Parts: sequence; C-alpha cells; structure tokens
Amino acid sequence: MIDPWGSASLEYQELIEKFGVKPFSEILDDVPDPSWLMRRGIVFGHRDYERILEAVRKGEDFAVVTGMMPSGKMHIGHKMIVDQLRWYDSIGAEIFIPIANMEAYSARGIDFETSRRIAVEEYIANYIALGLDLSKKNIHVYLQSENLMVEDLAYILAGKVNFNELRAIYGFTGSTSMAHMYAPIIQVSDILHPQLEEMGGPRPTLVPVGPDQDPHIRLTRDMAARFREKFGFIQPSSTYHRFMRGLTGGKMSSSKPKSAIFLSDTPEEAEAKIRNAKTGGRETLKEQRELGGVPEDCIIYETLLYHMSGRDDDLEEIYDSCRNGTLMCGECKNNTAEFVRKFFEELSEKREKALRVAEGVLEG
Ligand code: TRP
Ligand code: SF4
Repeated sequence: MIDPWGSASLEYQELIEKFGVKPFSEILDDVPDPSWLMRRGIVFGHRDYERILEAVRKGEDFAVVTGMMPSGKMHIGHKMIVDQLRWYDSIGAEIFIPIANMEAYSARGIDFETSRRIAVEEYIANYIALGLDLSKKNIHVYLQSENLMVEDLAYILAGKVNFNELRAIYGFTGSTSMAHMYAPIIQVSDILHPQLEEMGGPRPTLVPVGPDQDPHIRLTRDMAARFREKFGFIQPSSTYHRFMRGLTGGKMSSSKPKSAIFLSDTPEEAEAKIRNAKTGGRETLKEQRELGGVPEDCIIYETLLYHMSGRDDDLEEIYDSCRNGTLMCGECKNNTAEFVRKFFEELSEKREKALRVAEGVLEG
C-alpha cells in the first residue's frame, strides 16, 4: 500500500509493475519539444498521457491541476513542480493550483491561519520567484477551504464512496479522524472541478505529481467514471516524477534540514551545502583518474540533472568526463557551487519582489 502522508520512499518500479502506470519513455517521442525533465527521465511515468497529447495536437483546451500542501519550507526538490507548470503554461494549458490547507490541517494539524501564511510567504512567493506568473488569466490559485465550488462537489462525490473503499486504498481504521478521511475526496474534487459546466465543461485534465500521490489519482479516476453520467467527466491523466535525493544521501525532506537546500537559504548557505554534499568520487585523485567517478551516486551530478535546464550536451559532457576519469570532483564541485550560488542570488532578489504581490494572489 502507498501512503500519501507517510515518509517512506517508494520504489518507482513498483508503480509501473503493480499499479499499471506506463513508462513515460514509451511516449516521449510523441511529445513535441519535451521539457528537460521529460527528456532526462525525471518524469518517468504516466497514466493516459495520450489524451493530453491529442488535445495539444488538435489545439484543444486542457487543464493541469497540481496542488501544494502548505506545511513547511520549500526545498529545491519542490522546484520541479513549478518547472513543469511553467512548461504547461507555455503550451497553453489552463492551470489550477489548489492550496491544500484542509489537508494540512487533517494530516499535519496546522490551523488555517498558519497554513495561509505559509502558503503566501513561502509557496506563492516562491512559485512567482521561480517564474510562474500567477497574475495570468489562465492560472488559478485558491485555498481549499475558501472554494465553495470545490467543497460542494466534494460532498456530492462523497455520496458515492464508502469507508471500505477508503480503507482499502489508504489503510484508514476506526480511529482515523473524520477530517483525515475527508481529505482525499477534497483532492478528488480539486482535480475534477475544472470539468464542471461553470468552469468550462468536460476536458482532458493532467495531474503532474510525485508517486506518493498515486492513490489519490486512482480514486479520482474511479470517481470520474462513477459520475460520468451526471457531469460528463473525462478521466484525468497523470504524470509521475522522481524526487531529487537529499544532500546526505537519503530523501530530501524539509523535516531533515541537513538533507535539503531550502529555497529561502541565502546564496552563501546554498553554496556551502553544495560544497559539503556527497559525491560519487573516489578516495584519491589517482583512483579517480584510473576508475572514473560514479555520477549515479553523486548529489552534485543530480543537482545539475534536475536544475541545469536547457541543452543536454553540457550535462552529457560532465557525465562522460566524470566516468572516464578526466573530471575531478574538486573542479566539478566548484562549477556546480558557482551555478547554485548564482541561481540563489537571482532567486532571493526575485522573491523579495514576489513577496510584495504574493498576498494579492489569493484575493484576485
Ligand atoms: N496532496 C497533495 C500534497 O500532499 C496536495 C494536493 C491537493 C494536490 N490537491 C491536489 C496535488 C490536486 C495534485 C492535485 O502535496
Ligand atoms: Fe560527481 Fe562531478 Fe565527482 Fe563525477 S566528478 S563524482 S559528477 S562531483
């Protein structure tokens, strides 16, 4: 069972073998001008992405929905979702960004006042600073608790799902709180409400998420089918991305500060963290020259893989020269630290500006 609120890292392969997610590589060639995250296999799986490709090909309307749970600080691993939203914005999607404050309350005990502040000062500010223009007409940001359409739809949907099903999907028990039990159906409603008549009617919808969110996707697709007659819902499509590993080797997590580079870190802090990160290098320079490094085990390489957008050639060159022992970790780290510092210098400037308009996003 996959637990969307747990912290266990899960095998990406499991999603494909057990749950019927398809490898993204099979359709990569059909994507016109794919994003770097697609090309590099970071977006690794999908359900029904063909439907989105068809809408793009025919120039038809489609929606993208992906939420955020405002429960802590954003780290560079979270940046990936913004990069994907920018890409979908550039190809004309209508974008919905629910802020999951109801879920933050039921899963993390965070009150609405606190989650609103985190949403504005942390998430919305960073989304803007990372280049997503939230003032655009095709981009909608809302708090779950303030969207009556989403809440009403959730209640209607809840009429056709029972406890036994939720227990089978999420492992809920007799002592699960009612609020927690309700959170998934709110998320289902987040995903389906763009297809309501008043929002533009049935259309292909994509949900780009991490693999931990797949239980919600399966429930949503089931619910879409159950309510097809009433609302004409088209089953939503989804993509799944890998998560960048933490600096210390395990998972990158906001609750383990040493593992993460936070978007609010100063350029100096971010640079220092990179300089201390685990590499895939050998014990000695001599060994490195003879055997080459192991980029697959290297957080420095991973940082570049996820964040050095643009052409793949530069990345391939680093990969090759690491493997064949001509690139030494010292030099490689220096370059990466420089790249990261520059990125954070720009980001902190942009965030200062973004903070001034962030509050207005929820009012507009
Ligand atoms: N559950 C998601 C999380 O933990 C947040 C979320 C809320 C979401 N609504 C959504 C994700 C709709 C995708 C689509 O971060
Ligand atoms: Fe990592 Fe670069 Fe060292 Fe290779 S040379 S192991 S990519 S730091």
